[in-house]
Amino acid sequence: MKPLIRPTAWAVVLAAVLLAGFGRTEDPPKKPAEVPKAPTVMQRKLTHAQRILEGLALNDFNKIKKGADELTLCAEEASWRVVDTPKYALFSNDFLRNLDGLKKAAKAKNIDAAALAYVDMTLTCVKCHQYVRDEKMGAAPELMPLRLNRVGTE
Ligand code: HEC
Repeated sequence: MKPLIRPTAWAVVLAAVLLAGFGRTEDPPKKPAEVPKAPTVMQRKLTHAQRILEGLALNDFNKIKKGADELTLCAEEASWRVVDTPKYALFSNDFLRNLDGLKKAAKAKNIDAAALAYVDMTLTCVKCHQYVRDEKMGAAPELMPLRLNRVGTE
């Protein structure tokens, strides 16, 4: 009996080992840390802005419009308004106006106007970030909108 059962048992063990091995190489089990997190609205901005640049470089107005539409949606999300000051709202408005210019230029298939609107928009990215950085430094220990307002008007 034993000599008959053993080869079968070994065959089963071998098959299991092979299957486990193949399984690992084909489909590695994902640890929680490896599962990509959904990018935040702040992170998505960069992707959309890059798409616009790609559209400008390739004279692809569809891509420009798509990027501008996505950025507009980002700016309208609640999580965009992490800073609650009039100045931040002003930068946000500038940004939306730049995007309108970009969309108009894309619709008119005017690459020069689109490039110019893109530069304006990029300056607004930099200006708003500069503002957020400066205000954070002046408002230790944490960013407090009411105090920020006072700092600006005193
Ligand atoms: C109206 C203000 C404003 C404008 C305009 C703006 N941003 Fe931001 N951005 C922010 C704020 C606020 C944060 C978050 C800063 C923080 O958490 O300290 C941020 C963060 C970011 C980050 C870091 C995200 C991360 O979590 O790593 C990137 C990248 C970024 N913005 C790209 C852009 C780009 C590209 C543009 C222009 C196309 C842009 N932003 C325009 C306000 C703005």
